[in-house]
Amino acid sequence: MTFLLLIMKANVLESADKPLVWKEVPKPVLQPGDALVQIKAAALNRRDYWITIGKYAGIKYPTILGSDGAGIVTEVGSDADKHWIGQEVIINPGYGWGDNPNFQSDDFKILGLPEDGTFAEYVKVGAGQLHPKPTYLNWEQAASLPLAALTTYRALFVKANTKPGDKVLVTGAGSGTGTFAVQLAVAAGCKVYVTSGSADKIEAAKKLGAIDGVNYKDEDWAEQLTKLAGGFDVIIDSALGEGFAKLPDVCNPGARMVIFGGTAGNLPPLNGRKLFWRQLQIIGTMMGNNDDFKAMLDFVIEHKIVPVVDEVFLLSEAAKAVQKMENSSQFGKIVLKA
Ligand SMILES: NC(=O)c1ccc[n+]([C@@H]2O[C@H](COP(=O)([O-])OP(=O)(O)OC[C@H]3O[C@@H](n4cnc5c(N)ncnc54)[C@H](OP(=O)(O)O)[C@@H]3O)[C@@H](O)[C@H]2O)c1
Repeated sequence: MTFLLLIMKANVLESADKPLVWKEVPKPVLQPGDALVQIKAAALNRRDYWITIGKYAGIKYPTILGSDGAGIVTEVGSDADKHWIGQEVIINPGYGWGDNPNFQSDDFKILGLPEDGTFAEYVKVGAGQLHPKPTYLNWEQAASLPLAALTTYRALFVKANTKPGDKVLVTGAGSGTGTFAVQLAVAAGCKVYVTSGSADKIEAAKKLGAIDGVNYKDEDWAEQLTKLAGGFDVIIDSALGEGFAKLPDVCNPGARMVIFGGTAGNLPPLNGRKLFWRQLQIIGTMMGNNDDFKAMLDFVIEHKIVPVVDEVFLLSEAAKAVQKMENSSQFGKIVLKA
């Protein structure tokens, strides 16, 4: 009987050539400062997909994937954290950021590799990573927030210093991060435009408050965008690839282009003269620290932002859910529900 209580089920990555396996594994053992969260919902990020296809640094087997999660705290490792027991929480998946708000320390890690993540019945996290779940969101919506909303919040407001009235371009609006970038920038009073590979997703972005958009698969998408919108003050891009070479052409002088991913490849050759003459900035960013996470949550709650959930799978179906990311057919977040 006791033995059974020490077992849980989880989606385990066992090797590079095999999909995630839903199986019994030992329940995590807590150390002082830890908390155990019973997962109610977990959400996918492209990181989970990159890891399953072997395109991520530091992959180790076996690993339980998953950075995003929401659930109920069932145990803590220290008496000082007892107030968390029974609380409904979301988890900041980043830890070990360090003291410098400008960039993470060498100890920075993301839940779901190297440490076991949220695609499981229970996950062990540091009590410092716990945040109260926004009460107006259901489990699936709350689980969608952590990694993507944190990253786009920092990209928009900490890195690009986006202000009300700024004209903002979000590339790849169908992505989890893209939908949040649209929602946060619209809530901040910006004039938001998008690119997407699908006309339906441009329409969906307009329902979130974007003014209009163009299809990045069209040869002349940058010219179309200039006709539609003029120039942009801020661009949020997680695609890079060949298309990035045209972004300086759609910038206003002094614009900030914030990057945090390379879904479509790496940086192409850029016209450096355009960058310095028009004083454009390309700014890298990574997730965010715990202060950014708190600020993101405050902003989301203040503006009653409801994350866009594309599809909900059972927790046991993580392999199927990750596969959906392969062709990027989603608009918003793919979620697993316990
Ligand atoms: N560094 C960090 O802290 C951090 C944090 C979060 C994410 N990321 C990275 O950021 C990227 C997005 O992550 P995610 O989880 O939001 O991904 P996701 O939900 O899987 O979305 C991927 C999206 O990429 C877009 N895309 C594909 N090719 C494109 C192109 N040529 N131009 C513009 N957009 C294109 C598609 O948009 P449409 O569907 O609209 O066509 C697609 O939906 C990934 O590379 C991820 O690894 C990094």
